[in-house]
Amino acid sequence: MSERVLPVGILGTGIYVPERVLTNRDLERMVDTSDEWIRTRTGIRERHIVADHEAASDLAILAARQAIQDAGISVEEIDLIVVATNSPDMLFPATACLVQHALGAKKAGAFDVQAGCTGFIYALACGGQFVATGAAKAVLVIGTEALSRLVNWQDRNTCVLFGDGAGAVVIGPVPEGYGILATRLGSEGAGGPLLSLPAGLSRCPASPETVANNQHFIHMHGREVFKFAVKVMEESCLEVLQAAGLAPEQLDFLIPHQANIRIIEAAAKRLDLPLERVWINVDRYGNTSAASIPVALHEALQAGRIRDGDHVVLVAFGAGLTWGATLLRWYDHHQQPFEKGDG
Ligand code: ACO
Repeated sequence: MSERVLPVGILGTGIYVPERVLTNRDLERMVDTSDEWIRTRTGIRERHIVADHEAASDLAILAARQAIQDAGISVEEIDLIVVATNSPDMLFPATACLVQHALGAKKAGAFDVQAGCTGFIYALACGGQFVATGAAKAVLVIGTEALSRLVNWQDRNTCVLFGDGAGAVVIGPVPEGYGILATRLGSEGAGGPLLSLPAGLSRCPASPETVANNQHFIHMHGREVFKFAVKVMEESCLEVLQAAGLAPEQLDFLIPHQANIRIIEAAAKRLDLPLERVWINVDRYGNTSAASIPVALHEALQAGRIRDGDHVVLVAFGAGLTWGATLLRWYDHHQQPFEKGDG
């Protein structure tokens, strides 16, 4: 998918992570693991965990307010809210509707997207279509997770990996030549059983047995997911570059899904991209699933690592199995004020 009508870009970003930090040392006291194992196998040192009163929408709302402020628009101008999450407050109403209400975004439509850790890439592609066709001028796209609620804290295979947080962006029209140049979305449903949360819905309704069998928690075959991830991260990056007629060496900065430092390093190596041009924060947040890309993007921008005109790729993989990449030519609206609708 590389077609576009109006150019669509990111006009503001924001993040929120819960205050509580859970270190590897804390985990050593909870399961049979070690700081050394977690650091060397995953690159994670610590992760943020929601407080008892917090859920995915609470994090999303705080990230969204920051993104709206950064974009310099008012809440009333938002036409649509798309929330990517695998840990919604509840199955319905959608987390996007909870966010819409809390923000007071009166004219906004709102819905959730669920595509594993690739959710933000899917949500961005989806929201982007509304802007590209002129159906919307300002879309709020959020990735938010409270996955700590869905993790079995007695399963060392998974509980050391995930963290909570939220990232939000406002997208809208940008000048010609800027914004999203290409998007690639992929899925391989045959790999679904490699990463799933099996019970609680129509296939396997909640029962005392499903609770006793830990079927309401995340189940993962880590090694297989790892192999899949390395392959699709490289392939989808190359595909979006090719779709936009760019050579791999024209990639300026990479924002990869933050699941495991070894996956990120392997992808960067395959793309022949020095790690200085890759944002890495998995050490501080763990895998925040659908939130990881917008959180990383916000931090890279704050650190001044992405400049106007840079070619930036966002790339992710996750449950489904799914994968996706978005190539943007970065538009720095702080540097170049642009009247909405001129694009
Ligand atoms: N502490 C100590 N030992 C552990 C731990 C732990 N926390 N977890 C697993 N081990 C053990 C295993 O039991 C295994 O022991 P065994 O050989 O005696 O059976 C050993 O360590 C090695 O296990 P591997 O699976 O080979 O370890 P690997 O090097 O593959 O690393 C990991 C495991 C970190 C999970 C890795 O496979 C990985 O990162 N996979 C990708 C996961 C991922 O990206 N998930 C994305 C989720 S996306 C979404 O949509 C939610």
